Amino acid sequence: MAAQYYKILTAKAPVNIAVIKYWGKSNEKLKLPINDSLSGTLNLDDMCATTTVAVSSTFQEDELWLNQEKQDIESAKSHARVMLDEMRKLSKLSPKILQYKVHIVSYNNFPTAAGLASSAAGYACLAYVLGHLYGIEDSTQLSRLARMGSGSACRSLFGGFVRWHKGHNHETSIASQIVNETYWPEMKVLICVINDNKKDVSSSEGMLRSVQTSSLISYRSEKIVPGRMDKIIDAIKKKDFDSFAEITMQDSNQFHAICLDSKPPIFYLNDASRQIIKICSIINTHFGQNKVAYTFDAGPNACVYLLEDFVPQFVKLIQQYFPIKDGLGNTKKLEIRGQQNGSTDLNTDIGSLVDQLQSAGIRDLVNSVSYLISTSIGSGPKLVEDHMNDNILEPQI
Ligand code: PMV
Repeated sequence: MAAQYYKILTAKAPVNIAVIKYWGKSNEKLKLPINDSLSGTLNLDDMCATTTVAVSSTFQEDELWLNQEKQDIESAKSHARVMLDEMRKLSKLSPKILQYKVHIVSYNNFPTAAGLASSAAGYACLAYVLGHLYGIEDSTQLSRLARMGSGSACRSLFGGFVRWHKGHNHETSIASQIVNETYWPEMKVLICVINDNKKDVSSSEGMLRSVQTSSLISYRSEKIVPGRMDKIIDAIKKKDFDSFAEITMQDSNQFHAICLDSKPPIFYLNDASRQIIKICSIINTHFGQNKVAYTFDAGPNACVYLLEDFVPQFVKLIQQYFPIKDGLGNTKKLEIRGQQNGSTDLNTDIGSLVDQLQSAGIRDLVNSVSYLISTSIGSGPKLVEDHMNDNILEPQI
Protein backbone atom coordinates (compact mmCIF):
# COMPACT_ATOMS: atom_id res chain seq x y z
CA MET A 1 0.00 0.00 0.00
CA ALA A 2 1.32 3.48 -0.84
CA ALA A 3 2.45 5.51 2.14
CA GLN A 4 0.19 8.37 3.11
CA TYR A 5 1.45 11.92 3.17
CA TYR A 6 0.65 13.99 6.20
CA LYS A 7 2.04 17.23 7.50
CA ILE A 8 0.73 19.59 10.14
CA LEU A 9 1.81 23.12 11.15
CA THR A 10 0.51 25.63 13.70
CA ALA A 11 1.18 29.37 13.88
CA LYS A 12 0.10 32.36 15.96
CA ALA A 13 -0.39 35.86 14.55
CA PRO A 14 -1.00 39.19 16.27
CA VAL A 15 -3.69 41.86 16.18
CA ASN A 16 -2.67 45.32 14.95
CA ILE A 17 -4.31 48.64 15.82
CA ALA A 18 -3.93 51.43 13.27
CA VAL A 19 -2.98 54.95 14.30
CA ILE A 20 -3.28 56.17 10.69
CA LYS A 21 -6.36 54.36 9.45
CA TYR A 22 -6.91 52.45 6.24
CA TRP A 23 -10.33 53.51 4.97
CA GLY A 24 -11.29 53.12 1.31
CA LYS A 25 -10.15 50.92 -1.56
CA SER A 26 -9.16 51.85 -5.09
CA ASN A 27 -9.47 48.18 -6.14
CA GLU A 28 -12.04 46.01 -4.34
CA LYS A 29 -10.76 42.66 -5.59
CA LEU A 30 -7.07 43.19 -4.81
CA LYS A 31 -7.90 45.31 -1.75
CA LEU A 32 -5.63 48.16 -2.79
CA PRO A 33 -6.16 51.07 -0.38
CA ILE A 34 -6.59 54.74 -1.28
CA ASN A 35 -4.09 55.81 1.38
CA ASP A 36 -1.08 54.51 3.32
CA SER A 37 -1.80 53.41 6.89
CA LEU A 38 0.29 52.71 10.00
CA SER A 39 -0.30 50.52 13.02
CA GLY A 40 1.21 49.09 16.19
CA THR A 41 1.35 45.29 16.39
CA LEU A 42 0.04 44.00 19.73
CA ASN A 43 1.66 41.39 21.92
CA LEU A 44 0.92 37.82 20.80
CA ASP A 45 0.72 36.56 24.38
CA ASP A 46 -2.30 38.75 25.13
CA MET A 47 -4.28 38.57 21.88
CA CYS A 48 -3.70 36.35 18.89
CA ALA A 49 -5.16 34.10 16.25
CA THR A 50 -3.90 30.50 16.25
CA THR A 51 -4.18 28.50 13.05
CA THR A 52 -3.34 24.87 12.37
CA VAL A 53 -3.14 23.50 8.87
CA ALA A 54 -2.93 19.82 8.01
CA VAL A 55 -2.30 18.51 4.53
CA SER A 56 -2.98 14.87 3.73
CA SER A 57 -3.21 12.59 0.75
CA THR A 58 -6.35 11.15 2.34
CA PHE A 59 -8.36 14.39 2.62
CA GLN A 60 -11.23 14.67 0.13
CA GLU A 61 -11.60 18.45 0.09
CA ASP A 62 -10.20 21.67 1.51
CA GLU A 63 -11.94 22.57 4.77
CA LEU A 64 -11.83 25.58 7.10
CA TRP A 65 -13.04 25.83 10.67
CA LEU A 66 -13.15 29.24 12.34
CA ASN A 67 -13.81 29.44 16.09
CA GLN A 68 -15.32 25.95 15.88
CA GLU A 69 -17.69 26.77 13.01
CA LYS A 70 -17.19 25.23 9.59
CA GLN A 71 -16.85 27.92 6.90
CA ASP A 72 -17.93 27.62 3.29
CA ILE A 73 -14.51 27.78 1.65
CA GLU A 74 -16.00 27.15 -1.80
CA SER A 75 -18.26 30.20 -1.69
CA ALA A 76 -17.44 32.90 -4.23
CA LYS A 77 -16.90 35.28 -1.32
CA SER A 78 -14.29 33.13 0.45
CA HIS A 79 -11.07 35.10 0.89
CA ALA A 80 -9.45 31.95 2.27
CA ARG A 81 -10.12 30.20 -1.05
CA VAL A 82 -8.47 33.06 -2.98
CA MET A 83 -5.44 32.95 -0.68
CA LEU A 84 -5.11 29.17 -0.86
CA ASP A 85 -5.32 29.14 -4.68
CA GLU A 86 -2.72 31.89 -4.90
CA MET A 87 -0.37 30.01 -2.51
CA ARG A 88 -0.63 26.84 -4.62
CA LYS A 89 0.10 28.87 -7.75
CA LEU A 90 3.22 30.42 -6.22
CA SER A 91 4.53 27.29 -4.48
CA LYS A 92 7.54 25.40 -5.82
CA LEU A 93 6.48 22.13 -4.14
CA SER A 94 5.82 19.10 -6.33
CA PRO A 95 2.53 19.07 -8.27
CA LYS A 96 1.61 15.88 -6.41
CA ILE A 97 1.79 17.53 -2.98
CA LEU A 98 0.00 20.61 -4.30
CA GLN A 99 -2.94 18.40 -5.23
CA TYR A 100 -3.40 17.24 -1.63
CA LYS A 101 -6.23 18.93 0.23
CA VAL A 102 -5.81 20.91 3.45
CA HIS A 103 -7.83 21.14 6.64
CA ILE A 104 -7.48 24.44 8.47
CA VAL A 105 -8.61 25.19 12.03
CA SER A 106 -8.36 28.73 13.38
CA TYR A 107 -9.41 30.43 16.60
CA ASN A 108 -8.89 33.73 18.39
CA ASN A 109 -7.98 33.91 22.07
CA PHE A 110 -10.17 37.01 22.43
CA PRO A 111 -13.88 37.30 21.65
CA THR A 112 -14.39 37.79 17.91
CA ALA A 113 -17.65 39.52 18.79
CA ALA A 114 -15.63 42.25 20.49
CA GLY A 115 -14.77 43.38 16.95
CA LEU A 116 -11.09 43.73 17.74
CA ALA A 117 -9.26 43.43 14.43
CA SER A 118 -9.89 39.70 14.57
CA SER A 119 -9.88 39.37 10.79
CA ALA A 120 -6.43 41.00 10.58
CA ALA A 121 -4.94 38.47 13.01
CA GLY A 122 -6.87 35.60 11.40
CA TYR A 123 -5.85 36.25 7.78
CA ALA A 124 -2.25 37.09 8.75
CA CYS A 125 -2.10 33.76 10.57
CA LEU A 126 -3.61 31.90 7.62
CA ALA A 127 -1.12 33.48 5.20
CA TYR A 128 1.79 32.73 7.53
CA VAL A 129 0.93 29.09 8.20
CA LEU A 130 -0.02 28.28 4.59
CA GLY A 131 3.13 30.09 3.42
CA HIS A 132 5.25 27.88 5.67
CA LEU A 133 3.42 24.82 4.39
CA TYR A 134 3.96 25.74 0.74
CA GLY A 135 7.51 27.10 1.12
CA ILE A 136 6.65 30.81 0.79
CA GLU A 137 8.28 32.42 3.80
CA ASP A 138 9.25 35.92 2.72
CA SER A 139 7.33 38.39 4.93
CA THR A 140 6.74 40.88 2.12
CA GLN A 141 5.27 38.20 -0.10
CA LEU A 142 3.17 36.93 2.81
CA SER A 143 1.93 40.47 3.51
CA ARG A 144 0.65 40.66 -0.12
CA LEU A 145 -1.17 37.35 0.33
CA ALA A 146 -2.63 38.35 3.73
CA ARG A 147 -3.97 41.55 2.13
CA MET A 148 -6.12 39.40 -0.15
CA GLY A 149 -7.89 38.09 2.98
CA SER A 150 -8.42 41.39 4.74
CA GLY A 151 -6.54 44.59 3.90
CA SER A 152 -5.31 45.40 7.39
CA ALA A 153 -4.02 41.82 7.81
CA CYS A 154 -0.96 42.72 5.72
CA ARG A 155 0.32 44.81 8.66
CA SER A 156 0.08 41.88 11.12
CA LEU A 157 2.93 40.07 9.32
CA PHE A 158 5.44 42.34 11.10
CA GLY A 159 6.12 43.28 14.72
CA GLY A 160 6.64 46.80 16.13
CA PHE A 161 5.20 49.74 14.16
CA VAL A 162 4.26 48.90 10.60
CA ARG A 163 3.39 50.94 7.51
CA TRP A 164 1.19 49.67 4.70
CA HIS A 165 2.28 51.39 1.48
CA LYS A 166 -0.81 51.77 -0.66
CA GLY A 167 1.19 51.01 -3.82
CA HIS A 168 -0.46 51.00 -7.22
CA ASN A 169 -0.87 47.28 -7.94
CA HIS A 170 -0.71 43.85 -6.26
CA GLU A 171 3.11 43.85 -6.29
CA THR A 172 3.63 47.26 -4.72
CA SER A 173 0.84 47.31 -2.10
CA ILE A 174 2.82 45.86 0.81
CA ALA A 175 3.57 46.41 4.47
CA SER A 176 6.99 47.12 5.96
CA GLN A 177 8.34 47.56 9.46
CA ILE A 178 9.18 51.07 10.69
CA VAL A 179 10.71 50.02 14.04
CA ASN A 180 10.69 46.62 15.71
CA GLU A 181 8.94 45.62 18.92
CA THR A 182 11.93 46.35 21.18
CA TYR A 183 12.42 49.93 19.95
CA TRP A 184 9.96 51.74 22.24
CA PRO A 185 9.41 49.37 25.19
CA GLU A 186 7.60 51.98 27.32
CA MET A 187 4.72 52.08 24.82
CA LYS A 188 1.64 50.23 26.14
CA VAL A 189 -1.87 49.71 24.85
CA LEU A 190 -5.06 49.47 26.86
CA ILE A 191 -8.18 48.23 25.14
CA CYS A 192 -11.54 49.08 26.67
CA VAL A 193 -13.89 46.37 25.41
CA ILE A 194 -17.26 48.04 25.20
CA ASN A 195 -20.46 46.25 25.96
CA ASP A 196 -22.48 46.73 22.81
CA ASN A 197 -24.23 44.04 20.82
CA LYS A 198 -25.45 46.29 18.05
CA LYS A 199 -24.41 44.91 14.63
CA ASP A 200 -21.99 47.37 13.07
CA VAL A 201 -21.68 48.10 9.37
CA SER A 202 -18.75 45.85 8.34
CA SER A 203 -15.50 47.61 7.48
CA SER A 204 -15.69 46.54 3.80
CA GLU A 205 -19.25 47.77 3.44
CA GLY A 206 -18.47 50.96 5.38
CA MET A 207 -15.43 51.90 3.34
CA LEU A 208 -17.21 51.27 0.06
CA ARG A 209 -20.07 53.52 1.20
CA SER A 210 -17.60 56.26 2.23
CA VAL A 211 -15.72 56.08 -1.10
CA GLN A 212 -19.00 56.36 -3.01
CA THR A 213 -20.64 59.11 -0.97
CA SER A 214 -18.21 61.12 1.21
CA SER A 215 -16.53 64.22 -0.17
CA LEU A 216 -14.19 64.36 2.83
CA ILE A 217 -12.57 60.98 2.14
CA SER A 218 -10.51 61.99 -0.90
CA TYR A 219 -9.41 65.21 0.85
CA ARG A 220 -8.07 63.07 3.69
CA SER A 221 -6.35 60.48 1.49
CA GLU A 222 -4.78 63.01 -0.89
CA LYS A 223 -4.09 66.07 1.23
CA ILE A 224 -3.88 64.91 4.83
CA VAL A 225 -2.49 61.39 5.15
CA PRO A 226 0.85 61.88 3.32
CA GLY A 227 1.98 64.68 5.68
CA ARG A 228 0.54 62.93 8.72
CA MET A 229 2.41 59.75 7.80
CA ASP A 230 5.80 61.53 7.68
CA LYS A 231 5.11 63.23 11.01
CA ILE A 232 4.03 60.12 12.90
CA ILE A 233 7.02 58.10 11.62
CA ASP A 234 9.26 60.90 12.82
CA ALA A 235 7.50 60.92 16.22
CA ILE A 236 7.89 57.13 16.57
CA LYS A 237 11.57 57.24 15.65
CA LYS A 238 12.16 60.07 18.17
CA LYS A 239 9.93 58.37 20.78
CA ASP A 240 7.99 61.65 20.97
CA PHE A 241 4.76 60.50 22.62
CA ASP A 242 3.13 63.95 22.63
CA SER A 243 3.24 64.24 18.81
CA PHE A 244 2.47 60.55 18.29
CA ALA A 245 -0.67 60.93 20.42
CA GLU A 246 -1.77 64.16 18.74
CA ILE A 247 -1.67 62.61 15.26
CA THR A 248 -3.27 59.34 16.43
CA MET A 249 -6.29 61.13 17.93
CA GLN A 250 -6.65 63.51 14.96
CA ASP A 251 -6.66 60.59 12.56
CA SER A 252 -9.21 58.58 14.54
CA ASN A 253 -11.47 61.65 14.75
CA GLN A 254 -11.14 62.29 11.02
CA PHE A 255 -11.90 58.69 10.13
CA HIS A 256 -15.11 58.84 12.21
CA ALA A 257 -15.95 62.23 10.65
CA ILE A 258 -15.76 60.53 7.24
CA CYS A 259 -18.13 57.83 8.52
CA LEU A 260 -20.57 60.55 9.52
CA ASP A 261 -20.06 62.24 6.13
CA SER A 262 -21.12 59.03 4.34
CA LYS A 263 -24.65 58.40 3.11
CA PRO A 264 -26.43 56.96 5.01
CA PRO A 265 -24.10 58.01 7.87
CA ILE A 266 -22.21 55.31 9.76
CA PHE A 267 -21.98 55.49 13.56
CA TYR A 268 -19.31 53.31 15.12
CA LEU A 269 -18.91 55.19 18.41
CA ASN A 270 -21.41 55.03 21.28
CA ASP A 271 -21.86 56.93 24.56
CA ALA A 272 -19.14 54.94 26.31
CA SER A 273 -16.69 55.59 23.43
CA ARG A 274 -17.47 59.32 23.57
CA GLN A 275 -17.02 59.40 27.34
CA ILE A 276 -13.56 57.80 26.91
CA ILE A 277 -12.67 60.49 24.34
CA LYS A 278 -13.74 63.18 26.82
CA ILE A 279 -11.77 61.61 29.69
CA CYS A 280 -8.64 61.40 27.51
CA SER A 281 -9.02 65.02 26.38
CA ILE A 282 -9.43 66.29 29.96
CA ILE A 283 -6.38 64.30 31.11
CA ASN A 284 -4.25 65.66 28.26
CA THR A 285 -5.34 69.25 28.94
CA HIS A 286 -4.72 68.81 32.68
CA PHE A 287 -1.10 67.78 32.10
CA GLY A 288 -0.48 70.33 29.33
CA GLN A 289 0.81 67.48 27.14
CA ASN A 290 -0.64 64.27 25.74
CA LYS A 291 -0.55 61.40 28.20
CA VAL A 292 -3.01 59.17 26.38
CA ALA A 293 -3.98 58.63 22.72
CA TYR A 294 -7.35 57.10 21.93
CA THR A 295 -8.16 55.50 18.62
CA PHE A 296 -11.31 53.68 17.42
CA ASP A 297 -11.73 51.26 14.51
CA ALA A 298 -15.02 50.23 12.92
CA GLY A 299 -16.69 49.67 16.30
CA PRO A 300 -17.11 51.28 19.73
CA ASN A 301 -14.08 49.70 21.51
CA ALA A 302 -11.46 52.21 22.60
CA CYS A 303 -7.78 51.42 22.02
CA VAL A 304 -5.62 53.70 24.09
CA TYR A 305 -1.89 54.04 23.47
CA LEU A 306 -0.02 55.35 26.53
CA LEU A 307 3.37 55.19 28.19
CA GLU A 308 4.00 52.66 30.94
CA ASP A 309 4.25 55.16 33.81
CA PHE A 310 0.71 56.44 33.20
CA VAL A 311 -0.99 53.03 32.99
CA PRO A 312 -1.94 52.72 36.71
CA GLN A 313 -3.58 56.18 36.81
CA PHE A 314 -5.50 55.66 33.59
CA VAL A 315 -6.70 52.19 34.59
CA LYS A 316 -7.91 53.54 37.94
CA LEU A 317 -9.86 56.35 36.24
CA ILE A 318 -11.52 53.99 33.78
CA GLN A 319 -12.38 51.61 36.62
CA GLN A 320 -13.85 54.53 38.55
CA TYR A 321 -16.15 55.75 35.76
CA PHE A 322 -17.13 52.41 34.25
CA PRO A 323 -18.22 50.26 37.20
CA ILE A 324 -19.79 46.84 36.80
CA LYS A 325 -23.00 46.07 38.69
CA ASP A 326 -24.37 42.56 39.00
CA GLY A 327 -28.06 41.62 39.21
CA LEU A 328 -28.04 42.02 43.01
CA GLY A 329 -26.76 45.58 42.77
CA ASN A 330 -23.21 44.69 43.95
CA THR A 331 -20.54 46.86 42.36
CA LYS A 332 -17.40 45.22 40.99
CA LYS A 333 -14.24 46.68 39.52
CA LEU A 334 -13.57 46.20 35.82
CA GLU A 335 -11.41 43.16 35.22
CA ILE A 336 -7.99 43.64 33.64
CA ARG A 337 -6.96 40.90 31.22
CA GLY A 338 -3.54 40.51 29.64
CA GLN A 339 -0.51 42.07 31.32
CA GLN A 340 -1.02 42.67 35.03
CA ASN A 341 2.39 44.22 35.81
CA GLY A 342 2.04 47.92 36.42
CA SER A 343 -1.62 47.95 35.38
CA THR A 344 -2.75 48.57 38.94
CA ASP A 345 -1.14 50.32 41.82
CA LEU A 346 -3.34 50.77 44.86
CA ASN A 347 -1.45 53.90 45.94
CA THR A 348 -2.04 55.69 42.64
CA ASP A 349 -3.48 59.14 43.36
CA ILE A 350 -6.13 60.31 40.90
CA GLY A 351 -7.85 62.79 43.24
CA SER A 352 -7.21 66.04 41.36
CA LEU A 353 -8.10 64.45 38.01
CA VAL A 354 -11.36 63.10 39.42
CA ASP A 355 -12.34 66.63 40.57
CA GLN A 356 -11.78 67.96 37.06
CA LEU A 357 -13.61 65.09 35.37
CA GLN A 358 -16.51 65.51 37.78
CA SER A 359 -16.82 69.21 37.08
CA ALA A 360 -16.67 68.52 33.32
CA GLY A 361 -19.78 66.36 33.72
CA ILE A 362 -18.17 62.90 33.51
CA ARG A 363 -20.50 60.46 35.29
CA ASP A 364 -20.50 56.74 36.02
CA LEU A 365 -21.54 54.65 33.02
CA VAL A 366 -22.54 51.38 34.63
CA ASN A 367 -21.89 48.10 32.72
CA SER A 368 -20.80 50.02 29.59
CA VAL A 369 -17.26 48.64 29.44
CA SER A 370 -17.04 44.84 29.82
CA TYR A 371 -13.31 44.51 30.64
CA LEU A 372 -9.88 45.93 29.87
CA ILE A 373 -7.05 44.27 27.98
CA SER A 374 -3.64 45.55 28.98
CA THR A 375 -0.96 44.85 26.41
CA SER A 376 2.16 46.19 24.68
CA ILE A 377 3.81 46.30 21.26
CA GLY A 378 4.83 42.82 20.13
CA SER A 379 6.34 40.67 17.43
CA GLY A 380 5.01 39.37 14.12
CA PRO A 381 3.62 35.82 13.63
CA LYS A 382 5.41 32.76 14.95
CA LEU A 383 5.33 29.05 14.22
CA VAL A 384 4.41 27.05 17.29
CA GLU A 385 7.47 24.87 17.59
CA ASP A 386 6.36 21.99 19.75
CA HIS A 387 4.29 20.31 17.10
CA MET A 388 4.15 16.59 17.52
CA ASN A 389 3.08 15.27 14.14
CA ASP A 390 5.32 17.03 11.66
CA ASN A 391 5.78 14.85 8.58
CA ILE A 392 4.90 11.57 10.22
CA LEU A 393 4.96 9.72 6.93
CA GLU A 394 7.04 10.49 3.89
CA PRO A 395 5.26 10.99 0.58
CA GLN A 396 5.71 8.57 -2.29
CA ILE A 397 5.98 10.82 -5.27
O1 PMV B 1 -8.94 45.16 6.95
P1 PMV B 1 -10.34 45.53 7.23
O2 PMV B 1 -11.19 45.33 6.04
O3 PMV B 1 -10.85 44.80 8.46
O4 PMV B 1 -10.40 47.10 7.57
C1 PMV B 1 -9.87 47.68 8.72
C2 PMV B 1 -10.28 49.09 8.83
C3 PMV B 1 -9.92 49.78 10.14
O5 PMV B 1 -9.74 48.85 11.17
C4 PMV B 1 -11.08 50.69 10.53
C5 PMV B 1 -8.70 50.67 9.99
C6 PMV B 1 -7.35 49.98 9.95
O6 PMV B 1 -6.46 50.54 9.31
O7 PMV B 1 -7.18 48.91 10.57
